[in-house]
Amino acid sequence: MTETAAQAEPYYLPAGNEIDIFERCHEQRLAVMLKGPTGCGKTRFVEHMAWRLKRPLITIACHDDLAASDLIGRFLIRHDGTQWQDGPLTRAAREGAICYLDEVVEARQDTVVILHALTDHRRILPIDKTGEIVQAAPGFQLVVSYNPGYQRMLKDLKPSTRQRFVAMDLDFPGAEQEMEIIRQESGTDHATAHALVTLAHRIRSLRDRGLAEVPSTRLLIATALLAKNGIPVKEACYAGLISPLSDDESLVSAMRDLVDATFL
Ligand SMILES: Nc1ncnc2c1ncn2[C@@H]1O[C@H](COP(=O)(O)OP(=O)(O)O)[C@@H](O)[C@H]1O
Ligand SMILES: [Mg+2]
Repeated sequence: MTETAAQAEPYYLPAGNEIDIFERCHEQRLAVMLKGPTGCGKTRFVEHMAWRLKRPLITIACHDDLAASDLIGRFLIRHDGTQWQDGPLTRAAREGAICYLDEVVEARQDTVVILHALTDHRRILPIDKTGEIVQAAPGFQLVVSYNPGYQRMLKDLKPSTRQRFVAMDLDFPGAEQEMEIIRQESGTDHATAHALVTLAHRIRSLRDRGLAEVPSTRLLIATALLAKNGIPVKEACYAGLISPLSDDESLVSAMRDLVDATFL
């Protein structure tokens, strides 16, 4: 769990009208679901929006043994008795923070269900263990992220949960925008950013040939940072872009060929 109150503006280059939609959701007290592949900018977008809306941001990374008490809170045993300690969701509700549950599908159903009363007109969080019913403060907003391509068959959100959110589809940025983001984030030159984006498009088309994970904007930035800081660009691509994506020898070799064809 992390809590941030950003000082400087987190850089975010919008793809469409997502900033506007998010602002309307915030003002209308609607919960938001960000859909999109890993590394496409979901977290950065939320950081940017929290900064814009001047709200604290509390981020919770979901995983399959995240229990309701990890979100709501628990009694701590102390030498002089027990004391209730709010969990991150409860704190966000009280403080009027933006609460961001990253990869919400990873959380257990019985954990996700506790979000329900916070996402409708009641905006409440009942704390069974203390009997308290927390009324969410005005700035409170729930945001979840969800990667639809990921383990789609195994895990999905229940319709009763999905229908509580306004969903926004984020995807990898267009070529010009992705180049701009890479340059901003890594300080690399135009030619390298251009070549990396060209390469990324070629590799992303290998999805049809069985590449499960395609290169994200995040990986392109990491690769650009290596190249910018002295690693020969092909080496940077092998280490920063290709090796993280697959262990499959034939896919790796196909991707290396694309690197060699892109950076002559
Ligand atoms: N639209 C964008 N504007 C600015 N930076 C972006 C954008 N999209 C991606 N990035 C960059 O890519 C990195 C990974 O994005 P992130 O928000 O962590 O992805 P996600 O949460 O979707 O996995 C960010 O740290 C940022 O450097
Ligand atoms: Mg993220």
